Amino acid sequence: MKKFSMLINAADVRSHIAPEIYGHFSEHLGRCIYNGIYVGENSPIPNVRGIRSDIVEAFKNIKMPLLRWPGGCFADEYHWKDGIGEKSQRKKMVNTNWGGVTEDNSFGTHEFMDLCEQVGCQPYIAGNVGSGTVQELAEWVEYITFDGISPMADLRRKNGREKPWKLKYLGIGNENWGCGGSMRPEYYADVYRRFQSFCKNYSGNELFKIACGPSSSDYNWTEVMMKNLGEWHAKAISLHYYALRDWNNKGKAAEFTDEQYYELMNTANYMDELITRHTQIMDRYDPENKIGLAVDEWGTWYDVEEGTNPGFLYQQNTMRDAMVAALTLNIFNRHSGRVVMANLAQAVNVLQALVLTEGEKMVKTPTYHVFDLYKEHQGGEAVYCWSENEQMAGGAPMLSTSASVKDGVLTITAANCSMSEPAEINCGINGFAAASVKARILTGAARDLNDFDCPEKLTIKPLEAKLENGVLKAELPPCSAAEIRIFAE
Ligand code: AHR
Repeated sequence: MKKFSMLINAADVRSHIAPEIYGHFSEHLGRCIYNGIYVGENSPIPNVRGIRSDIVEAFKNIKMPLLRWPGGCFADEYHWKDGIGEKSQRKKMVNTNWGGVTEDNSFGTHEFMDLCEQVGCQPYIAGNVGSGTVQELAEWVEYITFDGISPMADLRRKNGREKPWKLKYLGIGNENWGCGGSMRPEYYADVYRRFQSFCKNYSGNELFKIACGPSSSDYNWTEVMMKNLGEWHAKAISLHYYALRDWNNKGKAAEFTDEQYYELMNTANYMDELITRHTQIMDRYDPENKIGLAVDEWGTWYDVEEGTNPGFLYQQNTMRDAMVAALTLNIFNRHSGRVVMANLAQAVNVLQALVLTEGEKMVKTPTYHVFDLYKEHQGGEAVYCWSENEQMAGGAPMLSTSASVKDGVLTITAANCSMSEPAEINCGINGFAAASVKARILTGAARDLNDFDCPEKLTIKPLEAKLENGVLKAELPPCSAAEIRIFAE
Protein backbone atom coordinates (compact mmCIF):
# COMPACT_ATOMS: atom_id res chain seq x y z
CA MET A 1 0.00 0.00 0.00
CA LYS A 2 1.44 3.37 -1.07
CA LYS A 3 0.68 6.24 1.30
CA PHE A 4 0.14 9.75 -0.01
CA SER A 5 -0.24 12.95 1.99
CA MET A 6 -2.59 15.51 0.53
CA LEU A 7 -3.46 19.07 1.43
CA ILE A 8 -6.51 21.06 0.47
CA ASN A 9 -7.02 24.71 1.30
CA ALA A 10 -10.65 25.46 0.59
CA ALA A 11 -10.09 29.15 1.32
CA ASP A 12 -7.59 29.37 -1.53
CA VAL A 13 -9.91 29.65 -4.53
CA ARG A 14 -8.10 29.25 -7.85
CA SER A 15 -10.72 29.44 -10.60
CA HIS A 16 -14.32 28.79 -11.52
CA ILE A 17 -15.05 25.38 -13.05
CA ALA A 18 -17.33 26.12 -16.00
CA PRO A 19 -19.97 23.37 -16.20
CA GLU A 20 -19.18 23.20 -19.93
CA ILE A 21 -15.87 21.49 -19.07
CA TYR A 22 -18.07 18.41 -18.62
CA GLY A 23 -19.46 18.75 -22.14
CA HIS A 24 -19.93 16.15 -24.87
CA PHE A 25 -19.83 15.72 -28.61
CA SER A 26 -22.22 14.04 -31.06
CA GLU A 27 -21.28 13.81 -34.72
CA HIS A 28 -23.00 12.34 -37.76
CA LEU A 29 -20.50 9.52 -37.60
CA GLY A 30 -21.16 5.79 -37.47
CA ARG A 31 -23.91 5.00 -34.97
CA CYS A 32 -23.66 8.13 -32.84
CA ILE A 33 -26.77 9.86 -34.20
CA TYR A 34 -28.55 7.27 -36.37
CA ASN A 35 -29.09 3.94 -34.58
CA GLY A 36 -27.71 5.62 -31.51
CA ILE A 37 -29.32 8.78 -30.18
CA TYR A 38 -31.92 8.92 -32.95
CA VAL A 39 -33.98 5.82 -33.68
CA GLY A 40 -36.94 7.50 -35.40
CA GLU A 41 -40.50 7.93 -34.22
CA ASN A 42 -41.64 4.52 -35.46
CA SER A 43 -38.97 2.56 -33.58
CA PRO A 44 -40.12 -0.01 -30.99
CA ILE A 45 -37.35 1.38 -28.77
CA PRO A 46 -38.94 3.90 -26.37
CA ASN A 47 -38.37 7.38 -27.77
CA VAL A 48 -39.74 10.89 -27.77
CA ARG A 49 -40.04 12.25 -31.31
CA GLY A 50 -37.44 9.70 -32.41
CA ILE A 51 -34.91 10.48 -29.67
CA ARG A 52 -34.08 7.47 -27.52
CA SER A 53 -35.41 7.95 -23.99
CA ASP A 54 -32.86 5.75 -22.15
CA ILE A 55 -30.05 7.81 -23.64
CA VAL A 56 -31.75 11.07 -22.65
CA GLU A 57 -32.13 9.73 -19.08
CA ALA A 58 -28.47 8.68 -19.00
CA PHE A 59 -27.36 12.13 -20.18
CA LYS A 60 -29.58 13.86 -17.62
CA ASN A 61 -28.18 11.73 -14.80
CA ILE A 62 -24.64 13.03 -15.37
CA LYS A 63 -25.99 16.59 -15.69
CA MET A 64 -24.69 16.85 -19.24
CA PRO A 65 -24.22 20.61 -19.58
CA LEU A 66 -23.56 20.89 -23.30
CA LEU A 67 -23.60 18.91 -26.53
CA ARG A 68 -21.59 19.72 -29.66
CA TRP A 69 -23.03 18.91 -33.10
CA PRO A 70 -23.06 18.08 -36.09
CA GLY A 71 -19.28 17.43 -36.21
CA GLY A 72 -16.31 17.09 -36.32
CA CYS A 73 -15.23 16.74 -39.88
CA PHE A 74 -18.87 16.29 -40.86
CA ALA A 75 -19.60 19.91 -39.88
CA ASP A 76 -17.59 21.34 -42.76
CA GLU A 77 -19.57 19.43 -45.37
CA TYR A 78 -22.98 19.85 -43.71
CA HIS A 79 -25.54 22.16 -45.27
CA TRP A 80 -28.14 22.87 -42.64
CA LYS A 81 -30.96 23.70 -45.04
CA ASP A 82 -30.87 20.07 -46.22
CA GLY A 83 -31.87 19.02 -42.70
CA ILE A 84 -35.08 21.01 -42.17
CA GLY A 85 -38.69 20.67 -43.31
CA GLU A 86 -40.69 17.59 -44.24
CA LYS A 87 -38.41 14.57 -43.69
CA SER A 88 -39.34 12.68 -46.84
CA GLN A 89 -38.38 15.72 -48.89
CA ARG A 90 -34.98 16.24 -47.30
CA LYS A 91 -32.02 16.06 -49.62
CA LYS A 92 -29.66 13.12 -49.16
CA MET A 93 -25.88 13.44 -49.16
CA VAL A 94 -22.76 11.30 -48.90
CA ASN A 95 -20.95 11.34 -45.59
CA THR A 96 -17.52 11.40 -47.21
CA ASN A 97 -15.58 11.48 -43.95
CA TRP A 98 -17.24 8.57 -42.24
CA GLY A 99 -17.70 5.43 -44.29
CA GLY A 100 -19.17 7.07 -47.41
CA VAL A 101 -22.66 6.22 -46.19
CA THR A 102 -25.77 8.05 -47.33
CA GLU A 103 -26.96 10.67 -44.90
CA ASP A 104 -30.71 11.19 -45.22
CA ASN A 105 -30.75 14.35 -43.11
CA SER A 106 -33.66 13.11 -41.01
CA PHE A 107 -31.82 14.41 -37.94
CA GLY A 108 -31.34 18.15 -38.44
CA THR A 109 -31.55 21.42 -36.56
CA HIS A 110 -35.03 20.88 -35.06
CA GLU A 111 -34.18 17.37 -33.92
CA PHE A 112 -30.88 18.46 -32.39
CA MET A 113 -32.46 21.36 -30.53
CA ASP A 114 -35.22 19.01 -29.35
CA LEU A 115 -32.55 16.61 -28.04
CA CYS A 116 -30.88 19.43 -26.11
CA GLU A 117 -34.22 20.51 -24.67
CA GLN A 118 -35.04 16.95 -23.58
CA VAL A 119 -31.62 16.60 -21.92
CA GLY A 120 -31.65 20.14 -20.52
CA CYS A 121 -28.23 20.94 -21.96
CA GLN A 122 -26.86 23.80 -24.03
CA PRO A 123 -26.47 23.28 -27.77
CA TYR A 124 -23.05 23.93 -29.31
CA ILE A 125 -23.26 24.16 -33.08
CA ALA A 126 -20.19 23.82 -35.28
CA GLY A 127 -20.73 25.82 -38.48
CA ASN A 128 -19.57 24.94 -41.97
CA VAL A 129 -16.65 27.12 -42.99
CA GLY A 130 -14.70 24.65 -45.15
CA SER A 131 -17.35 24.14 -47.84
CA GLY A 132 -20.09 26.55 -46.79
CA THR A 133 -20.67 30.24 -47.33
CA VAL A 134 -20.80 33.19 -45.00
CA GLN A 135 -24.43 33.69 -45.98
CA GLU A 136 -25.29 30.08 -45.13
CA LEU A 137 -23.85 30.31 -41.63
CA ALA A 138 -25.32 33.78 -41.03
CA GLU A 139 -28.76 32.48 -42.04
CA TRP A 140 -28.46 29.46 -39.73
CA VAL A 141 -27.98 31.81 -36.79
CA GLU A 142 -30.95 33.89 -37.98
CA TYR A 143 -33.09 30.74 -38.40
CA ILE A 144 -32.33 29.53 -34.88
CA THR A 145 -32.36 32.77 -32.90
CA PHE A 146 -34.36 35.56 -34.58
CA ASP A 147 -37.71 36.36 -33.03
CA GLY A 148 -39.05 38.92 -35.54
CA ILE A 149 -40.24 38.75 -39.12
CA SER A 150 -37.46 37.68 -41.47
CA PRO A 151 -37.01 35.11 -44.23
CA MET A 152 -35.22 32.65 -41.94
CA ALA A 153 -37.46 33.18 -38.90
CA ASP A 154 -40.51 32.72 -41.14
CA LEU A 155 -39.03 29.52 -42.56
CA ARG A 156 -38.50 28.23 -39.01
CA ARG A 157 -42.14 28.99 -38.19
CA LYS A 158 -43.25 27.24 -41.36
CA ASN A 159 -41.31 24.22 -40.13
CA GLY A 160 -43.23 24.18 -36.87
CA ARG A 161 -41.17 26.19 -34.41
CA GLU A 162 -42.78 29.50 -33.54
CA LYS A 163 -40.33 30.80 -30.95
CA PRO A 164 -36.60 30.96 -31.56
CA TRP A 165 -34.21 28.82 -29.56
CA LYS A 166 -31.32 30.20 -27.55
CA LEU A 167 -27.92 29.40 -29.01
CA LYS A 168 -24.83 30.50 -27.16
CA TYR A 169 -21.97 28.35 -28.43
CA LEU A 170 -21.09 28.65 -32.11
CA GLY A 171 -17.96 27.10 -33.61
CA ILE A 172 -16.71 28.82 -36.74
CA GLY A 173 -15.58 25.67 -38.53
CA ASN A 174 -13.85 22.54 -37.26
CA GLU A 175 -10.24 21.47 -37.69
CA ASN A 176 -9.79 23.99 -40.47
CA TRP A 177 -6.11 23.05 -40.53
CA GLY A 178 -7.22 19.56 -41.68
CA CYS A 179 -10.57 18.12 -42.76
CA GLY A 180 -12.15 21.59 -42.45
CA GLY A 181 -10.25 23.05 -45.40
CA SER A 182 -6.49 22.42 -44.97
CA MET A 183 -5.96 26.10 -44.24
CA ARG A 184 -2.85 27.83 -42.97
CA PRO A 185 -3.38 29.70 -39.69
CA GLU A 186 -2.85 33.15 -41.23
CA TYR A 187 -5.49 32.42 -43.87
CA TYR A 188 -7.95 30.83 -41.43
CA ALA A 189 -7.63 33.78 -39.04
CA ASP A 190 -8.93 36.09 -41.78
CA VAL A 191 -11.61 33.64 -42.87
CA TYR A 192 -12.68 33.35 -39.24
CA ARG A 193 -12.92 37.13 -38.89
CA ARG A 194 -15.05 37.37 -42.00
CA PHE A 195 -17.44 34.54 -41.09
CA GLN A 196 -17.94 35.65 -37.52
CA SER A 197 -18.72 39.25 -38.56
CA PHE A 198 -22.00 38.11 -40.08
CA CYS A 199 -23.11 35.87 -37.22
CA LYS A 200 -25.26 38.35 -35.35
CA ASN A 201 -26.78 38.57 -31.92
CA TYR A 202 -30.54 38.53 -32.54
CA SER A 203 -33.44 39.03 -30.16
CA GLY A 204 -31.40 39.07 -26.95
CA ASN A 205 -29.40 35.98 -27.91
CA GLU A 206 -25.66 36.35 -27.31
CA LEU A 207 -23.28 34.18 -29.26
CA PHE A 208 -20.08 32.87 -27.75
CA LYS A 209 -17.99 32.37 -30.87
CA ILE A 210 -15.27 29.75 -30.89
CA ALA A 211 -12.43 29.84 -33.40
CA CYS A 212 -10.71 26.71 -34.62
CA GLY A 213 -7.61 26.33 -32.51
CA PRO A 214 -4.62 24.03 -32.65
CA SER A 215 -4.26 20.33 -33.05
CA SER A 216 -2.27 18.96 -30.16
CA SER A 217 1.12 20.74 -29.94
CA ASP A 218 0.75 23.10 -32.89
CA TYR A 219 1.82 26.11 -30.84
CA ASN A 220 2.31 28.23 -33.94
CA TRP A 221 -1.43 27.92 -34.70
CA THR A 222 -2.24 29.29 -31.25
CA GLU A 223 0.31 32.09 -31.64
CA VAL A 224 -1.18 33.19 -34.99
CA MET A 225 -4.76 33.01 -33.71
CA MET A 226 -3.97 35.04 -30.62
CA LYS A 227 -2.09 37.62 -32.68
CA ASN A 228 -5.05 38.05 -35.02
CA LEU A 229 -8.17 37.61 -32.92
CA GLY A 230 -9.19 39.98 -30.18
CA GLU A 231 -11.88 39.11 -27.63
CA TRP A 232 -14.36 41.15 -29.69
CA HIS A 233 -13.89 38.51 -32.41
CA ALA A 234 -13.62 35.26 -30.46
CA LYS A 235 -14.56 34.19 -26.95
CA ALA A 236 -12.51 31.02 -27.17
CA ILE A 237 -10.21 29.01 -29.38
CA SER A 238 -10.43 25.25 -29.50
CA LEU A 239 -7.85 22.53 -28.87
CA HIS A 240 -8.15 18.97 -30.16
CA TYR A 241 -6.11 16.22 -28.61
CA TYR A 242 -6.71 12.46 -28.60
CA ALA A 243 -4.91 9.93 -26.42
CA LEU A 244 -3.76 7.49 -29.04
CA ARG A 245 -0.64 5.45 -29.57
CA ASP A 246 0.11 5.75 -33.26
CA TRP A 247 -2.22 6.61 -36.15
CA ASN A 248 -1.08 3.49 -38.03
CA ASN A 249 -1.25 1.14 -35.07
CA LYS A 250 -3.71 2.37 -32.49
CA GLY A 251 -4.10 -0.98 -30.76
CA LYS A 252 -7.23 -2.66 -29.44
CA ALA A 253 -9.56 -1.04 -26.94
CA ALA A 254 -9.91 -4.01 -24.64
CA GLU A 255 -6.74 -6.03 -25.25
CA PHE A 256 -3.51 -4.42 -24.18
CA THR A 257 -0.34 -5.16 -22.28
CA ASP A 258 0.52 -3.56 -18.95
CA GLU A 259 3.17 -1.55 -20.76
CA GLN A 260 0.57 -0.22 -23.22
CA TYR A 261 -1.69 0.71 -20.30
CA TYR A 262 1.01 2.84 -18.70
CA GLU A 263 2.02 4.28 -22.07
CA LEU A 264 -1.57 5.45 -22.58
CA MET A 265 -1.77 7.02 -19.11
CA ASN A 266 1.26 9.04 -20.07
CA THR A 267 -0.20 10.00 -23.44
CA ALA A 268 -3.39 11.14 -21.70
CA ASN A 269 -1.46 13.04 -19.05
CA TYR A 270 0.28 14.98 -21.84
CA MET A 271 -2.93 17.06 -21.89
CA ASP A 272 -1.50 18.86 -18.84
CA GLU A 273 1.61 20.01 -20.71
CA LEU A 274 -0.41 20.93 -23.80
CA ILE A 275 -2.80 23.14 -21.87
CA THR A 276 0.05 24.69 -19.89
CA ARG A 277 1.98 25.61 -23.03
CA HIS A 278 -1.01 26.87 -25.05
CA THR A 279 -2.04 28.88 -21.98
CA GLN A 280 1.43 30.47 -21.77
CA ILE A 281 1.00 31.73 -25.35
CA MET A 282 -2.53 32.93 -24.65
CA ASP A 283 -1.36 34.69 -21.47
CA ARG A 284 1.10 36.79 -23.48
CA TYR A 285 -1.64 38.14 -25.78
CA ASP A 286 -4.51 38.05 -23.33
CA PRO A 287 -3.26 38.60 -19.77
CA GLU A 288 -6.78 39.40 -18.63
CA ASN A 289 -7.96 35.97 -19.62
CA LYS A 290 -10.77 37.09 -21.91
CA ILE A 291 -10.33 34.32 -24.47
CA GLY A 292 -10.88 30.80 -23.24
CA LEU A 293 -9.49 27.48 -24.36
CA ALA A 294 -12.21 25.03 -25.44
CA VAL A 295 -10.85 21.48 -25.61
CA ASP A 296 -13.77 20.59 -27.81
CA GLU A 297 -12.51 17.14 -28.79
CA TRP A 298 -10.63 14.79 -26.48
CA GLY A 299 -10.61 11.12 -25.58
CA THR A 300 -9.06 7.77 -26.42
CA TRP A 301 -8.85 6.46 -29.97
CA TYR A 302 -8.16 2.80 -30.81
CA ASP A 303 -8.59 0.51 -33.79
CA VAL A 304 -12.29 -0.22 -34.41
CA GLU A 305 -13.81 -3.41 -32.97
CA GLU A 306 -13.33 -6.37 -35.27
CA GLY A 307 -16.09 -6.83 -37.82
CA THR A 308 -17.32 -3.22 -37.59
CA ASN A 309 -17.16 -0.57 -40.31
CA PRO A 310 -13.70 1.08 -40.14
CA GLY A 311 -15.35 4.43 -40.89
CA PHE A 312 -17.65 4.16 -37.87
CA LEU A 313 -14.99 4.38 -35.13
CA TYR A 314 -16.79 1.99 -32.81
CA GLN A 315 -14.64 0.88 -29.87
CA GLN A 316 -15.18 -0.81 -26.50
CA ASN A 317 -14.42 0.99 -23.28
CA THR A 318 -12.59 -0.45 -20.27
CA MET A 319 -11.37 0.71 -16.88
CA ARG A 320 -8.31 1.99 -18.76
CA ASP A 321 -10.60 4.53 -20.47
CA ALA A 322 -12.19 5.38 -17.14
CA MET A 323 -8.74 6.20 -15.76
CA VAL A 324 -7.99 8.39 -18.79
CA ALA A 325 -11.26 10.26 -18.18
CA ALA A 326 -10.59 10.58 -14.44
CA LEU A 327 -7.11 12.01 -14.84
CA THR A 328 -8.07 14.27 -17.76
CA LEU A 329 -11.05 15.80 -15.96
CA ASN A 330 -8.79 16.54 -12.97
CA ILE A 331 -6.40 18.29 -15.37
CA PHE A 332 -9.28 20.39 -16.74
CA ASN A 333 -10.41 21.33 -13.23
CA ARG A 334 -6.90 22.43 -12.33
CA HIS A 335 -6.66 24.51 -15.54
CA SER A 336 -10.16 25.91 -15.31
CA GLY A 337 -8.77 29.45 -15.21
CA ARG A 338 -8.23 29.16 -18.98
CA VAL A 339 -10.17 26.05 -19.99
CA VAL A 340 -13.79 27.09 -20.38
CA MET A 341 -15.16 24.04 -22.16
CA ALA A 342 -14.25 20.47 -23.04
CA ASN A 343 -16.12 17.86 -25.07
CA LEU A 344 -15.44 14.16 -24.83
CA ALA A 345 -15.43 12.43 -28.22
CA GLN A 346 -18.06 11.06 -28.53
CA ALA A 347 -21.31 10.58 -26.63
CA VAL A 348 -22.70 7.38 -28.18
CA ASN A 349 -21.12 4.41 -30.02
CA VAL A 350 -18.10 6.37 -31.26
CA LEU A 351 -14.55 6.50 -29.81
CA GLN A 352 -14.52 6.95 -26.01
CA ALA A 353 -18.27 6.70 -25.73
CA LEU A 354 -20.42 7.38 -22.70
CA VAL A 355 -22.93 4.75 -23.77
CA LEU A 356 -22.98 1.89 -26.27
CA THR A 357 -26.12 0.54 -27.90
CA GLU A 358 -27.10 -2.69 -29.62
CA GLY A 359 -30.74 -2.79 -30.69
CA GLU A 360 -32.82 -1.94 -27.65
CA LYS A 361 -29.92 -2.60 -25.26
CA MET A 362 -27.86 0.22 -23.83
CA VAL A 363 -24.70 -0.06 -21.76
CA LYS A 364 -23.15 2.67 -19.63
CA THR A 365 -19.39 2.50 -20.08
CA PRO A 366 -16.83 2.91 -17.26
CA THR A 367 -16.16 6.37 -18.73
CA TYR A 368 -19.82 7.26 -18.17
CA HIS A 369 -19.48 6.44 -14.47
CA VAL A 370 -16.49 8.78 -14.15
CA PHE A 371 -18.66 11.64 -15.45
CA ASP A 372 -21.21 10.64 -12.84
CA LEU A 373 -18.56 10.71 -10.09
CA TYR A 374 -17.21 14.11 -11.16
CA LYS A 375 -20.50 15.92 -11.85
CA GLU A 376 -20.56 17.93 -8.63
CA HIS A 377 -17.50 19.90 -9.79
CA GLN A 378 -19.67 21.58 -12.42
CA GLY A 379 -20.01 25.23 -11.53
CA GLY A 380 -17.81 24.85 -8.44
CA GLU A 381 -14.78 26.91 -7.42
CA ALA A 382 -11.53 25.00 -7.87
CA VAL A 383 -9.45 25.26 -4.71
CA TYR A 384 -5.82 24.58 -3.80
CA CYS A 385 -5.20 20.84 -3.85
CA TRP A 386 -1.74 19.31 -3.49
CA SER A 387 -0.70 15.70 -3.18
CA GLU A 388 2.45 13.69 -2.78
CA ASN A 389 2.91 11.56 -5.83
CA GLU A 390 4.87 8.86 -7.53
CA GLN A 391 5.73 8.42 -11.18
CA MET A 392 4.45 5.23 -12.77
CA ALA A 393 6.18 3.33 -15.56
CA GLY A 394 5.66 5.50 -18.63
CA GLY A 395 5.97 8.69 -16.57
CA ALA A 396 2.41 9.63 -15.56
CA PRO A 397 1.69 10.29 -11.88
CA MET A 398 0.00 7.49 -9.95
CA LEU A 399 -2.40 9.75 -8.09
CA SER A 400 -4.57 12.33 -9.85
CA THR A 401 -6.62 14.77 -7.79
CA SER A 402 -8.63 17.98 -7.84
CA ALA A 403 -11.00 19.74 -5.45
CA SER A 404 -13.76 22.31 -5.63
CA VAL A 405 -16.30 23.97 -3.40
CA LYS A 406 -19.93 24.53 -4.37
CA ASP A 407 -22.95 25.35 -2.22
CA GLY A 408 -20.87 24.88 0.94
CA VAL A 409 -19.78 21.34 0.04
CA LEU A 410 -16.18 20.38 -0.71
CA THR A 411 -15.86 17.84 -3.54
CA ILE A 412 -12.60 15.97 -4.05
CA THR A 413 -12.00 13.63 -6.95
CA ALA A 414 -9.07 11.26 -6.73
CA ALA A 415 -7.91 8.57 -9.12
CA ASN A 416 -5.38 5.85 -8.44
CA CYS A 417 -4.03 5.12 -11.91
CA SER A 418 -1.79 2.22 -10.89
CA MET A 419 -2.83 -1.18 -12.23
CA SER A 420 -1.55 -3.01 -9.17
CA GLU A 421 -0.75 -0.79 -6.16
CA PRO A 422 -3.43 0.36 -3.73
CA ALA A 423 -3.09 3.91 -2.42
CA GLU A 424 -3.93 5.38 0.96
CA ILE A 425 -4.62 9.09 1.12
CA ASN A 426 -4.32 11.23 4.22
CA CYS A 427 -5.62 14.64 3.39
CA GLY A 428 -5.37 17.71 5.60
CA ILE A 429 -8.21 20.16 5.03
CA ASN A 430 -7.77 23.85 5.73
CA GLY A 431 -10.28 26.64 5.33
CA PHE A 432 -13.28 24.35 5.71
CA ALA A 433 -15.07 23.16 8.85
CA ALA A 434 -15.27 19.51 7.81
CA ALA A 435 -17.96 17.64 9.73
CA SER A 436 -18.95 14.61 7.70
CA VAL A 437 -17.94 12.73 4.59
CA LYS A 438 -19.65 10.65 1.93
CA ALA A 439 -17.75 8.93 -0.86
CA ARG A 440 -18.33 6.82 -3.97
CA ILE A 441 -15.93 4.81 -6.10
CA LEU A 442 -15.58 3.06 -9.46
CA THR A 443 -12.98 0.34 -9.51
CA GLY A 444 -12.09 -2.82 -11.43
CA ALA A 445 -9.27 -4.52 -13.23
CA ALA A 446 -7.82 -2.41 -16.05
CA ARG A 447 -9.30 -4.63 -18.76
CA ASP A 448 -12.76 -4.91 -17.19
CA LEU A 449 -15.66 -3.55 -19.20
CA ASN A 450 -19.44 -3.47 -19.37
CA ASP A 451 -20.95 -5.27 -22.32
CA PHE A 452 -24.44 -6.12 -23.48
CA ASP A 453 -24.48 -9.47 -21.64
CA CYS A 454 -23.06 -7.99 -18.47
CA PRO A 455 -23.95 -4.29 -18.45
CA GLU A 456 -23.37 -3.74 -14.75
CA LYS A 457 -20.06 -5.44 -14.13
CA LEU A 458 -18.65 -2.00 -13.34
CA THR A 459 -20.86 0.37 -11.37
CA ILE A 460 -20.35 3.04 -8.75
CA LYS A 461 -20.21 1.73 -5.18
CA PRO A 462 -20.03 3.45 -1.80
CA LEU A 463 -16.47 4.06 -0.55
CA GLU A 464 -15.52 4.08 3.10
CA ALA A 465 -13.81 7.37 3.94
CA LYS A 466 -13.23 8.84 7.43
CA LEU A 467 -12.50 12.17 8.99
CA GLU A 468 -10.09 11.87 11.93
CA ASN A 469 -9.22 15.13 13.69
CA GLY A 470 -9.98 17.03 10.52
CA VAL A 471 -7.85 14.70 8.36
CA LEU A 472 -9.56 12.78 5.57
CA LYS A 473 -8.50 9.14 5.21
CA ALA A 474 -9.44 6.81 2.38
CA GLU A 475 -8.04 3.80 0.55
CA LEU A 476 -8.15 3.72 -3.21
CA PRO A 477 -7.73 0.29 -4.82
CA PRO A 478 -5.64 0.01 -7.97
CA CYS A 479 -7.38 1.38 -11.05
CA SER A 480 -10.03 3.40 -9.29
CA ALA A 481 -11.67 6.81 -9.39
CA ALA A 482 -13.46 8.28 -6.40
CA GLU A 483 -15.68 11.18 -5.48
CA ILE A 484 -15.34 12.31 -1.86
CA ARG A 485 -17.79 14.91 -0.62
CA ILE A 486 -17.10 16.75 2.62
CA PHE A 487 -19.94 18.50 4.38
CA ALA A 488 -19.51 21.38 6.81
CA GLU A 489 -20.93 21.55 10.34
O1 AHR B 1 -14.07 12.64 -33.44
C1 AHR B 1 -13.73 12.12 -34.69
C2 AHR B 1 -13.03 13.14 -35.58
O2 AHR B 1 -11.81 13.50 -35.00
C3 AHR B 1 -13.74 14.44 -35.77
O3 AHR B 1 -14.69 14.40 -36.77
C4 AHR B 1 -12.62 15.37 -36.16
O4 AHR B 1 -12.88 16.70 -35.82
C5 AHR B 1 -11.43 14.78 -35.45
O5 AHR B 1 -10.34 14.66 -36.29
